[in-house]
Amino acid sequence: MSINISCREHFFGKDGKVKYQYILILGSNLGDKKEFLNLAAANLSLNALILKKTEIKKTKAFHIHNQPDFFNQGILIETKLSPEKLLLFIKEIERDLGRKHNVRYGPREIDIDIVWYSGERYKSDKLSVPHTQNRARSWVREFIVELKSEAVDETVKVKYKDMNVKPITKISDFLYKKKNGEKISVLTCYDYSIAKLLSKTSVDTVLVGDSLANVFQGRKNTLPVTLDEMIYHAKAVRRGCPDAFITVDMPFLSFQVSPEETVKNAGRILKETGCDAVKIEGVFYETIEKMVKASIPVMGHLGLTPQSVLKFGGYGLQAKQKEEQYKLIEDALSLQSAGCFSMVLEMIPAALTGEISKKLEIPTIGIGAGPNADGQVLVINDLLGIDEDFSPKFVRKYADLSSVIMTAVENYCADVRKKDFPSEKESF
Ligand code: KIV
Repeated sequence: MSINISCREHFFGKDGKVKYQYILILGSNLGDKKEFLNLAAANLSLNALILKKTEIKKTKAFHIHNQPDFFNQGILIETKLSPEKLLLFIKEIERDLGRKHNVRYGPREIDIDIVWYSGERYKSDKLSVPHTQNRARSWVREFIVELKSEAVDETVKVKYKDMNVKPITKISDFLYKKKNGEKISVLTCYDYSIAKLLSKTSVDTVLVGDSLANVFQGRKNTLPVTLDEMIYHAKAVRRGCPDAFITVDMPFLSFQVSPEETVKNAGRILKETGCDAVKIEGVFYETIEKMVKASIPVMGHLGLTPQSVLKFGGYGLQAKQKEEQYKLIEDALSLQSAGCFSMVLEMIPAALTGEISKKLEIPTIGIGAGPNADGQVLVINDLLGIDEDFSPKFVRKYADLSSVIMTAVENYCADVRKKDFPSEKESF
């Protein structure tokens, strides 16, 4: 096999200095997969020093599922090649090894991805490093941590080892996480664009909450949301995160009337959205039993259950009195025995959350319920700081998107008024 390595003279140039480290992921799911990986590494070594390799790992194909499993291997290299030149070199190797298949996410003889680069971010038309899918693929995170334990993802400025968690793809993963003391991160989501961003993060699982009534529709409570509206939003979220475990809230009066009607409504959610589970508020023992019997995974929700706001008279802390706390513990145990696979605890004292979490085998997911829950959930709009007028005590704002968005809008308007936008470069 002949490879025309156009960059080779640069690597062995006068100063002979090795400049960059890269982590590459080799993949193959056609032909002699191991041989393709070995040949790719051998060819890379013509122009780079191979510092470390992972074992070869079999992985499920990403996005397009009806294709053979991939053989993947991570390698840490040192080379003088810039990212653009390394990419050219990689393309030559792929061509020389006989890569014929080029469908995005499709089957291929050999694929070499640059996933990490000397602790820097690199972006051009042809290449984006860190690779946009690093954070979404748990085995890529594992490879990176194995090859370079302190590697940072420069897009989000977080160490890979802090994102290196087992993904949730099925209900038994919730139980696994609880048993292994791994906290579960949950975020709500209501639309395709944010879902697509979430699919590129290590967030454990997604909830299409009926809180969309408040933050998406501007309603004063969650009561008006319909089943059709929940299904509409859940479909959009599923399109944005095709591989996430997604739970969908059952809206007000879609599960309170009768177990039979509930099974039908929950069935509609699962069938029409392709999501994985439903959540219902309150204690509906017989209904949950029937749903679980019909193979519908159910997440429970106790404490402040916003669909009962008219009964509660507000959104304040629940279970302040001892009697209410005993009752909540009993309710939690009863939801577990009815078959719930996890349970949201909202706006209750932290100590009570700890007591319930200790008593249950299934994980608790807290919101306004302190640090003792097995996981935490936040409404994504709150975490992003989209509404500058909403800052309850239990929310931590990780961004100030309200000012980012308004600044962008004002700058755009000013540019239009000044006839500065669009420029020649932005015109045809
Ligand atoms: O609707 C919702 O977003 C929720 C979470 C806050 C738990 O139920």
